[in-house]
Amino acid sequence: MRILVTGGTGVLGREIVEAAEAAGHAVRVGSRGPHRAGIPVAREWAMMDLASGSGIDEAVAGVDAVVHAASDPKRSQAADVEGTQVLVDACRRGGVGHFVYVSIVGIDRIPVRYYQHKLAAETIVSAGGVPWSILRATQFHPFIDQLLTAAARFPLVMPLPAGFQVQSVDVGEVARRLLRCVKDGPDGHLPDFGGPEAMSLRDAAQLWREAWGMKKPLLSVPLLGRAAAAFRAGSNTVPAGEHGTISWRDWLVQR
Ligand SMILES: NC(=O)c1ccc[n+]([C@@H]2O[C@H](COP(=O)([O-])OP(=O)(O)OC[C@H]3O[C@@H](n4cnc5c(N)ncnc54)[C@H](OP(=O)(O)O)[C@@H]3O)[C@@H](O)[C@H]2O)c1
Repeated sequence: MRILVTGGTGVLGREIVEAAEAAGHAVRVGSRGPHRAGIPVAREWAMMDLASGSGIDEAVAGVDAVVHAASDPKRSQAADVEGTQVLVDACRRGGVGHFVYVSIVGIDRIPVRYYQHKLAAETIVSAGGVPWSILRATQFHPFIDQLLTAAARFPLVMPLPAGFQVQSVDVGEVARRLLRCVKDGPDGHLPDFGGPEAMSLRDAAQLWREAWGMKKPLLSVPLLGRAAAAFRAGSNTVPAGEHGTISWRDWLVQR
């Protein structure tokens, strides 16, 4: 199969590209930039910009499936909402057989602007006239790592939103789940996919501190508002659904 991976240079996209090639697929990377140094020249590359619409028709030409993993949280109206519409329209015109969209667990329950845009993109995908699948995943382990690294830069203490829950997941496992979806064919909304273990962000931070030998104390900061309440209620976790096997603890050990 020939697969376009939008955002094929990103954290998830790189893993999808590798998993797809390992499974014997021909892969085309979609990126705003030119073919990057260090990437095999044999790998197909399509310069495309979801925000401006440039290069989209060429990117989807001749592909059997698209895995849409590109996103820009800072410009999500243009890139994620309008860009997904342009991409789906091009796929329909080009006769693409399967459009796979990567989304986030809880976007319909957590009132955050980026999540509202992801939800709008899901609607565009499901109504776009191209056979589709949508996989919602929980936060990736590297995202939690990034968040805690930022908190650790604060002087004297590591501030954390009080009571938030997490169930972060291994990026490679998400990539392999997406590849299985490509192989199985269009299946609509797939079961949510999360890591094997839900825990408080505070416990996740505790494990992170131990792993890095960090002595700075944690400071729980109560946050107001409906979005914070939803993260405290665990709306971003997957009590039922599918789970990967590599936990946050495992990932920290591997690191
Ligand atoms: N991070 C998480 O914890 C998490 C959890 C669940 C789901 N997700 C979803 O998984 C997907 C991938 O997330 P990620 O963390 O791997 O993101 P990422 O590392 O930030 O990668 C996103 C990619 O999107 C591409 N991109 C950005 N703006 C674009 C534009 N205007 N046109 C074309 N490409 C553009 C970028 O590629 P170039 O710079 O090469 O153009 C970038 O490599 C996203 O849809 C995200 O919502 C993420």
